[in-house]
Amino acid sequence: MTAAVSSPVITIDGPAGTGKSTVALRLAERLGFQFLNTGAMYRAVAMRCLEKGISFEDEESVVAAARELRFCIREHRLQVDGQDLSEQLTAHSVGRSASLVAAYPRVREILVEHQRDIARRQPIVTEGRDQGTVVFPDASRKFFLTASSEVRARRRFEEVGATSGASYEDILREQQERDLRDSTRSVAPLKPAEDAEIVDSSDLDVEQVVDVLARMVQESLKN
Ligand code: C5P
Repeated sequence: MTAAVSSPVITIDGPAGTGKSTVALRLAERLGFQFLNTGAMYRAVAMRCLEKGISFEDEESVVAAARELRFCIREHRLQVDGQDLSEQLTAHSVGRSASLVAAYPRVREILVEHQRDIARRQPIVTEGRDQGTVVFPDASRKFFLTASSEVRARRRFEEVGATSGASYEDILREQQERDLRDSTRSVAPLKPAEDAEIVDSSDLDVEQVVDVLARMVQESLKN
């Protein structure tokens, strides 16, 4: 697979709960780029499997479900088969299932093709786990967002805890399981690209992180 991409691409990778999605969206708005949430693509595959009653152990059926989906972005929001499913895709249970489907190399190949295709059409800020390492090795600028696991779980809890019924401890435990699965899988594991800037967001709010990233991006795009 080649990454023949001509429009500017900014990648933001990192584990769950670092505020990547919000930061990537705000950065995209500032730069006038589109925002691509690649986690939502893996979540869409997981949701399709849940809807169809496909077992996550049935690799062939999971791959077939991934192959059926069509993606595009409209006003920063991922459209799945022409529909904005953002609300449904953020459900806690879907996130856990997404990391199961994401471990299948053939599911990743399908989604990576969609991601590169979207990037060919417009400048993007894209966020995920493998955007700087695998999908866009020649990105204009790469970032890896981190924060302590307690800070990340606390943020997730404040975001979804009340509605999902999950406790802080549940979220912390599941997040640790998910981080472990994402960073130890054989294909496209979660890790910073060698040329990524590592930004620790534990003590920064969203606007402060966006300010730091925007400054660095402006410098890179000038050169
Ligand atoms: O970022 P988000 O929590 O929405 O991602 C859900 C899951 O999708 C992650 O835990 C990870 O397993 C998978 N994912 C991935 N590669 C990406 C984006 C997400 O493997 N680029």
